[in-house]
Amino acid sequence: MKRILLALLLSTSVSAAPALAADPPLWAFPVGQAYVAPPPETGEQLKVPNSDKSFTRTQLRNIFSVPDWHPESHPPMPDVVAKGKAPKLWACGYCHLPTGQGRPENSSLAGLDQGYMIQQVLDMKEGKRKVSQPKMEPVVRMHEAAEAVSLEDLQTATEYFSNLKYKPWIKVVETDKVPKTKIMAMYVPLDGTETEKLGDRIIEVPEKPDLTDIRDFQTGFIAYVPKGAVKRGEKLAKKGVNGGAPCATCHGPDYKGLGPVPTLAGRSPTYTGRQLWNMREGFRHGTWSALMAQTVVELKDKEIIDLAAYFASLKP
Ligand code: HEC
Ligand code: HEC
Repeated sequence: MKRILLALLLSTSVSAAPALAADPPLWAFPVGQAYVAPPPETGEQLKVPNSDKSFTRTQLRNIFSVPDWHPESHPPMPDVVAKGKAPKLWACGYCHLPTGQGRPENSSLAGLDQGYMIQQVLDMKEGKRKVSQPKMEPVVRMHEAAEAVSLEDLQTATEYFSNLKYKPWIKVVETDKVPKTKIMAMYVPLDGTETEKLGDRIIEVPEKPDLTDIRDFQTGFIAYVPKGAVKRGEKLAKKGVNGGAPCATCHGPDYKGLGPVPTLAGRSPTYTGRQLWNMREGFRHGTWSALMAQTVVELKDKEIIDLAAYFASLKP
């Protein structure tokens, strides 16, 4: 018996933290509470402003064919980005958008260093970057795509995204009241004028929910953050956290990335918050993750919010 206990103790102390991790915060890991079924197909050809394209709902739901509302706004997409490959290599551009601007439930890829992106997908493939919230479907799908993608396709896709320029996409608003929302992969404001307390959260919503809903990508997002978060985040970033170096030491001047260390400026605070949480709770053990270890080990939940708000407020 003693020996079994000892073995158990040893095995829990050496295994990574995930089993003991706190519940992931809903604001950074939006998981639909009350799922509302998507509207049924009526055969209607849907349209958006500034585009002569039209798609039916069925076409818009096809994850092997990216609805490209604005082909003139980006270079031609290689097949892996536009179509992917059945059965599980979903089209990268469907989720990350043809412009690579990304959405809160995934990640912006435009302008990220190619070496960094390849390393991340390989880390996922090799189980070193793990799914921390299995109920978050887009993340699970990303990991499936990472498992399915060949090195050649990965190179082609990441070359495409790294050559795009990430444009300002998120407007940060400090407030203590937010519109009431529902979660449909991301937070979406309900019709009407009802509000609720923001509290210790960031709520990121589409600027034009009806357009984002049909995967248009000409409008971005509004991030509601607690009052004072941007200034507090700036202070933390400049000083560094827990004796770690200031963030700019590795993430570059203006936090625009340095070699393979990723850019942080102007990116989705939902994504940034999710990653700081993932790293603190031990879900990222990639080739380069150790460089973040000291920064995240004692990071407080409120500091995650402040840092995510600050970086989102910066010009990319
Ligand atoms: C089903 C939607 C979906 C598809 C398709 C998809 N991704 Fe992702 N991707 C995501 C999500 C969600 C994340 C964020 C994961 C997280 O929060 O840990 C992500 C994250 C990433 C990251 C990490 C970014 C960072 O800053 O660390 C890279 C790189 C990436 N994806 C590349 C790709 C490539 C290349 C393809 C196509 C081969 C692809 N993705 C296809 C949803 C998707
Ligand atoms: C010693 C160098 C170093 C310092 C200091 C540092 N970082 Fe990082 N950071 C990295 C590296 C390297 C990665 C990529 C980790 C990986 O591959 O898993 C990273 C990744 C990240 C990510 C994930 C980005 C993504 O695209 O997924 C965030 C968010 C982040 N850092 C925030 C911060 C913040 C906030 C600070 C300051 C409080 C900071 N970092 C300080 C090196 C550093």
